[in-house]
Parts: sequence; C-alpha cells; structure tokens
Amino acid sequence: MEFSPFPLPYLAISLATLLILTTPKLLTEAKTSPVAPGPTPAPLNLTAILEKGNQYTTFMRLLKVTQVGQQVQSQLNNSYDGLTIFAPTDNAFNNLKAGTLNGLDAQEQVSLILYHVLPRYYSFVTFETASNPVRTQASGSNGVYSVNVTSSTNQVNVSTGIDETPVQTVLYSDFPLAVYSVDKVLLPYDLFGPKPPAAAPEPADEAPKKPTKKSPAADSSPAEAVTSPSAASPNGRTVGWSFAVGLGLFGLFCMGSRL
Ligand SMILES: *[C@@H]1O[C@H](CO)[C@@H](O)[C@H](O)[C@H]1NC(C)=O
Ligand SMILES: *[C@@H]1O[C@H](CO)[C@@H](O)[C@H](O)[C@H]1NC(C)=O
Ligand SMILES: *[C@@H]1O[C@H](CO)[C@@H](O)[C@H](O)[C@H]1NC(C)=O
Ligand SMILES: *[C@@H]1O[C@H](CO)[C@@H](O)[C@H](O)[C@H]1NC(C)=O
Repeated sequence: MEFSPFPLPYLAISLATLLILTTPKLLTEAKTSPVAPGPTPAPLNLTAILEKGNQYTTFMRLLKVTQVGQQVQSQLNNSYDGLTIFAPTDNAFNNLKAGTLNGLDAQEQVSLILYHVLPRYYSFVTFETASNPVRTQASGSNGVYSVNVTSSTNQVNVSTGIDETPVQTVLYSDFPLAVYSVDKVLLPYDLFGPKPPAAAPEPADEAPKKPTKKSPAADSSPAEAVTSPSAASPNGRTVGWSFAVGLGLFGLFCMGSRL
C-alpha cells in the first residue's frame, strides 16, 4: 500500500471522503446519472405493415420460408440507404401460371423474393430520378438482377423484361423503408427469360452497409457540445467530487479542532 508512508492527515481526508461518498444519497446519484437512455424509436416491422394490408399472405409466407423477411429486418437496423419493397398481392400470385413457384428450387425462390427488394429507399417522387437499370437485392451467376423503373406524372411502372406492372398503393413510405403494393409478381429475366437459369448461382455478396458513426453536427460547434445535456452530467459529477473532498477537509478540520 502506498498510503502507509503518508502522514496521518492524508489518511484522514481519504477516510472522511470515503465516508461521505458511501452515504446512500450520493450513491444513488452516482448510479443513476450516467445511465440515462435516450428515447428509442418504435422498430420498423415489415410483417406488421403487410398484415395491415390483409392481401399479402402469400408474400409474407415466402418472406418467411426464404428467410428474406429476417434479412430485411436486420438490414433495416443497419441500412444507410434504406430499402424499397414491392409487395405482390395474393391475386398477383394466384394469377401466375400454374407451377411457376413450384418450378423454382429453393435458391431460386430466394432470388425471386429478393428481386422484390431494392437496396435503397425510393419515395414515389424519387423513383423519377432513379437511373435504369435499378439494382435489386437478387443476384445470380450473371450478376445483380435489375428492374427498370419508368415514371410519368402520378404513375410509376416497374418492368423486369418479362412483365411490367404499375406501382400502386403506398403501404409505407418513411425512410429507411418504402413498401409498395404491386398487382403482378415481378419475374426476373434471369430466371424466366429464354436462357436456362444458371446451375450454381453465386450467393449475394451484398454486405449491409453500416451508417457512418460520426454525425455531421457532432464536431460542428464546440459551444454546442458544452451546453448539450450529455456534457452537463460529467460537470455535475466533478462538482460532486469537489464537494465531497471539501466536506472531507471540513470534517478533518473539525476533528483537528476538537483534539
Ligand atoms: C412484428 O409484427 C408481427 C405481427 O404484428 C408480430 O407477430 C411480431 O412479433 C413483430 N415483430 C417484432 C420484432 O416486433
Ligand atoms: C433491430 O434493432 C432492435 C433495437 O435496436 C432490436 O431489438 C432487434 O432485435 C433488431 N432486429 C434485428 C433483426 O437485428
Ligand atoms: C405503365 O404501364 C401501363 C400498362 O401496364 C401503360 O399503359 C403506361 O403507359 C405505363 N406508364 C409508364 C409511365 O411507363
Ligand atoms: C431496361 O431498359 C434497357 C434499355 O431500354 C433494356 O436494355 C433492358 O433490357 C431493360 N431491363 C429490364 C430488366 O427491363
């Protein structure tokens, strides 16, 4: 112990300070002040959005069996660009030629569902500025599957090279997620075009982009940082410590005068 060679007053200060610090009031203050959680926004829930529409049961089932739903959910947590999802109605699936879905193997079904997911948030208006071809989340041995988006006033169409459908109802549109209803299942050219599908499609190499940690406001103005609430609590603690040390000295002074 390095305290032993110190003269008695130092030890007394330490003891008095320790005594004051361990009073319940100071303890609870020390415990509660640094652990102030900020408000957490309600997490986006794709299933809940589609459930409300009441006509996407097939799409929801496929999101689940292909596990694309899970992937989308975790991408939303980390997405910098956001996501856009085309949700085909149950009618759209019913209108497919018999055996269309069953003709796909498991990997192709995953690709079909990923084809309905764009790795960027597009509001209805920003579709106009999208440059074709627009990448989807699906890919195969020929690379990323894409769609073409065409728009005129109040109308946006999405085409695959196999079929084309207007983008109808907005089910949800608030960054990072846009969900649109479509009346047709989007059939990727790479799976349904004249060329037979590749035997061994490569897995999607799309790593979810992390948002940059640094917010532009963080280093803009030092004055702001000083007055921000997060900076106030360390100051509060410093004051608390000096106060405690002060009390300790005062206690020592009293003890000394009584002796
Ligand atoms: C999303 O919503 C569905 C249906 O409302 C619910 O069953 C599910 O637990 C929710 N998931 C999360 C992560 O909140
Ligand atoms: C997304 O984030 C929320 C809150 O941060 C968490 O509760 C949830 O488990 C996360 N979901 C996924 C799929 O990572
Ligand atoms: C969208 O497709 C419909 C037919 O499905 C067509 O009549 C319309 O002109 C198309 N609009 C655009 C902007 O391409
Ligand atoms: C998109 O449009 C380009 C140019 O018109 C065309 O060459 C391409 O095949 C189209 N792709 C799809 C997926 O429709």
